[in-house]
Amino acid sequence: MVTQLKKLTKKPSATSSKAKKTGKTGKLRALAKANGAVPAINIGIRKKDRAAIAKGLSHLLADTYTLYLTTHNFHWNVTGPMFNTLHTMFMDQYTELWNAVDPIAERIRSLGHIAPGSYAAFSKLSSLPDVPAQPPKALEMVRILVEGHEAVARTARGMLDLVDDADDEPTADLLTQRLTVHEQTAWMLRALLEA
Ligand SMILES: [Fe+2]
Repeated sequence: MVTQLKKLTKKPSATSSKAKKTGKTGKLRALAKANGAVPAINIGIRKKDRAAIAKGLSHLLADTYTLYLTTHNFHWNVTGPMFNTLHTMFMDQYTELWNAVDPIAERIRSLGHIAPGSYAAFSKLSSLPDVPAQPPKALEMVRILVEGHEAVARTARGMLDLVDDADDEPTADLLTQRLTVHEQTAWMLRALLEA
């Protein structure tokens, strides 16, 4: 088998047009399949549950990405006497959100599903509105972000029963971490709005 693989992966020579015609990739795939090189996912979570959890995480990913983009936009466009405070605060928040999208996407992959990653997909999946076309006033930005963090928290919380029933501890852990951040950030932003 090793010899066969070596033969198939050997660099093509200038005269190997025959090999191109036979379709090396197809042969490699067939060989890998016959060899059992890609076993089916068997992590102890039912296929149906993995699909449902991946779907929920796709919504969470879209929400998180949309909130990230909104926060970064506000970092750029905030004006007024609170500029310095909000510009810096928004930077901390968008950095945290940017770092959060990767573990969510990679958990979807670990469950055997494709992670969405396009504006078209995110606009369909997100429960948050798109970033406002015109920059709002500073405190309106804060209000929009409070609502955004609370919306993401609802998306994460809405998955907890499913994840618990499926004994999916890594996703439960991820959701708990995200809930902690979103609820704390919503509180901090909300405090700015209180007189
Ligand atoms: Fe910046």
